[in-house]
Amino acid sequence: MKEQLDALAATLFAAVEAASSEKDLQELKVRYLGKKGELTALMKCLGALSAEERPLVGQLINTVKGRFEEEFTSRLAAVKGAETRRRLASERIDVTLPGRRTAVGSRHPVTLVVEELSEIFAGLGFQVAEGPEIELDFYNFEALNFPADHPARDMQDTFFLEGNRLLRTHTSPVQVRTMLKHAPPVRIIAPGTVYRCDSDATHSPMFHQIEGLMVDKGITFGDLKGILTIFINQYFGKGVGMRLRPSFFPFTEPSAEIDIACVICKGKGCRVCKNSGWLEILGAGMVDPEVYRHVGYDPDAVTGFAFGMGIERMAMLKYGINDMRYLFENDIRFLSQF
Ligand code: PHE
Repeated sequence: MKEQLDALAATLFAAVEAASSEKDLQELKVRYLGKKGELTALMKCLGALSAEERPLVGQLINTVKGRFEEEFTSRLAAVKGAETRRRLASERIDVTLPGRRTAVGSRHPVTLVVEELSEIFAGLGFQVAEGPEIELDFYNFEALNFPADHPARDMQDTFFLEGNRLLRTHTSPVQVRTMLKHAPPVRIIAPGTVYRCDSDATHSPMFHQIEGLMVDKGITFGDLKGILTIFINQYFGKGVGMRLRPSFFPFTEPSAEIDIACVICKGKGCRVCKNSGWLEILGAGMVDPEVYRHVGYDPDAVTGFAFGMGIERMAMLKYGINDMRYLFENDIRFLSQF
């Protein structure tokens, strides 16, 4: 029995030594000292021994138990210490690392231009009006004097939707909606998103326009030129050259395209103005009497003008952006410059 006890003690203490976690140690305790433990089993055999042997073996067992308690306690402390060190190492925070910054947003150049233009025109008495991006053929074309099958409809690469609906190709339908709702005089600008089936370095299928409309008694082409001159001087700077060229739009008569002296080369000729010295910036004209008939205005009582321009183009010219795609990629390095 003594040999058996020695062998058991040897394996037990070797196992304690080898235990690498608290769980291992607790398992050893159960395995040797639990109710059905191996050491407990030996103790139960004591009764079978002779009266002289019993106290000796009993004492030996107690020595083993005592030593186990000691080694168990010290091993447990060592194992726990190692576990704590491992956890601390894995959770270590390097306080010398630079912090992670949250990028602060800024307003998009398109928004900046809309705000600036709205402010300039507010100063001239224009109010902001809005209309839907999904539009009916009537507002986008019909009431603007584009009859069905009119070739001018082809000028606008329209995205058609079901049931006479389409994505508006320009902000001009807001003219119609405004005049249908309000009797003259009207003086509005209408900034907004428009869509055309067209895409390259200078065209995007989605872009922005701002429309202007002024209708009252006795408004003349001179008023149109005056308002546009003030606007161009405020937006691009005083004394920027400007010229009007005859043009055509179904909803204005007469119509004009307005050019400004190239803001890059000041009219000398460069890549941006294709060596012409001029940049086309907007379309305009006197509202066609046919449009007044569609909205219930009396063409003999009122006259007015309308104009429309691309906002991306305004932004590109103002901030010297040479590719329109920058305006849609939303690269934070680009956007944060404004
Ligand atoms: N709607 C026209 C276009 O998108 C621009 C325009 C507006 C022309 C108002 C004249 C008057 O091409």
